[in-house]
Amino acid sequence: MRASTRIIAGIVAAVLIAAAVAAFAIVWRPAIAGIDPPDPQSFDAALVKRGRDLAAIGNCSDCHTPRGAKNFAGGLPVPTPFGTIFSTNITPDPETGIGRWSEAAFRRAMRSGVNREGQHLYPTFPYDHFTNVSDEDDRALYAFLMTRQPVRAAPRENQLSFPFNQRLAIAGWKLLFLRHDTYRPDPRQSAEWNRGAYLVEGLAHCGACHTPRNALGAERVSARFAGGDVDDWHAYAINEQSRSPVPWTADALFTYLREGWHPDHGTARGPMAKVVSNLSSVPASDVRAIAVYTASVSGTPTSGRTGPSEDALARAKKASQTNPVGASIYTAACASCHEGGRPLPYGGVDLGLSTAISSPDPRNLANIVLSGIDAVEGERSPIMPGFAASMNDDQVSALLNYLRARFSDQSAWTDLKKTIAEARRTQTVFLQTSPAPRNAPADPQQREKP
Ligand code: HEC
Ligand code: HEC
Ligand code: HEC
Repeated sequence: MRASTRIIAGIVAAVLIAAAVAAFAIVWRPAIAGIDPPDPQSFDAALVKRGRDLAAIGNCSDCHTPRGAKNFAGGLPVPTPFGTIFSTNITPDPETGIGRWSEAAFRRAMRSGVNREGQHLYPTFPYDHFTNVSDEDDRALYAFLMTRQPVRAAPRENQLSFPFNQRLAIAGWKLLFLRHDTYRPDPRQSAEWNRGAYLVEGLAHCGACHTPRNALGAERVSARFAGGDVDDWHAYAINEQSRSPVPWTADALFTYLREGWHPDHGTARGPMAKVVSNLSSVPASDVRAIAVYTASVSGTPTSGRTGPSEDALARAKKASQTNPVGASIYTAACASCHEGGRPLPYGGVDLGLSTAISSPDPRNLANIVLSGIDAVEGERSPIMPGFAASMNDDQVSALLNYLRARFSDQSAWTDLKKTIAEARRTQTVFLQTSPAPRNAPADPQQREKP
């Protein structure tokens, strides 16, 4: 071999070795030694209380507590385009939960998506947002979880196909998409705005639902808050592309996020009902901060959305002429509650205010009409009957087409039949009750105190 060839071969070998070392460094994470489960008494009560509020803001219970199951014991199936991932047991049980996790191991999971044994975790656990959480807040969350009731419940096996069932593949995903940022305050903005940004981008992971994802399941940075999908629901755009007929303001957001309802916007349902249920129990100042930041994200609306306009009458007339079936269903089944200012719990908003009707995706409207809105037990909360049993798909379709033509200035939906059939198949309960049912109460006075 000539000298120059040898040098090239040497360089190639060095590059390959460096690449292998780099790959290993990215993929391999050491196990963190197990500890004896800490004594719950050893945690400061104020820290635990703060951790409780932070856990509510992070919706930890929604994913780690299936309906009717023990708090934080895991086992909730989370559907993804790649298969089903089950949430894990995060009670302090030493065998099946995180009882033997040190605070450092917990922080690493929150920040880098790696479990105590050193395996990569699926980003269904929204650590791509939790990476923003401060050390202090992770400490409070840890204190809260370590003082819960330990529950013995072995994790369930994920149902994923190759190559998604390979945890090593997650390392590649992280390399592409995980940004290890802690939140850096913007000095040009107020303290409240910065608090809101820290929560929205981090612990509250609003973008996990409201930002569309790419083919590999990562949020599309260029389309932040432009509307995403979650559990057969569309999480509406909440940036400048919002289709809310009345633009969102910080005040409206505060009321909606805290009480689950706003007179100009209606109720929060499905996954969003759980989010507001959680937010109804945390310090108002945090919800206010979230509202202030979110209002700044939604910015100035693009289209001239200023509420129901004079065109509304003309639209109503035209829609009735072209779709008499839809019009008569609306008059018979919907108008009595949605027109004329009937009060809650039975009075619904003027449908001209509903994002469900102006949204590019008809799924939420189909869900609402088929399944209605359940009242929360023991609270005077909004009630709407479901129409799945009394209307067939053709009737629902005629009704939805009518609502779209009458109450929005958007073009007709395509594939409506398919959406309705799908919504019928997956009928969900809306104002789902989590262990502490505080969902979207109409009357905040009736809400149980946390
Ligand atoms: C959107 C659903 C979702 C939310 C919200 C969520 N988690 Fe999880 N979490 C999961 C899933 C799914 C896993 C399992 C991932 C895996 O197996 O790779 C997980 C795993 C974990 C783990 C690793 C446990 C182990 O044994 O490996 C910890 C710790 C954890 N979550 C804590 C939290 C905390 C704290 C919060 C709230 C701040 C939270 N999670 C919110 C879905 C969620
Ligand atoms: C688990 C998924 C999920 C998370 C997390 C989530 N949302 Fe939502 N959000 C939804 C869904 C789904 C809807 C539509 C609900 C409906 O049709 O009633 C929604 C609706 C909304 C709306 C109403 C928009 C409109 O025009 O009617 C606002 C505002 C909103 N979310 C803000 C937020 C903020 C702020 C956060 C973070 C604090 C957040 N969401 C977190 C799923 C989510
Ligand atoms: C018994 C009274 C009642 C009847 C009948 C009724 N609704 Fe409702 N509806 C409500 C209440 C209460 C709400 C929740 C409060 C709100 O969102 O304004 C609601 C909410 C809605 C929403 C969500 C509004 C939003 O974006 O928040 C839509 C869309 C809707 N109804 C459509 C219909 C349609 C279509 C019909 C007829 C097929 C109908 N409703 C019949 C009471 C009723």
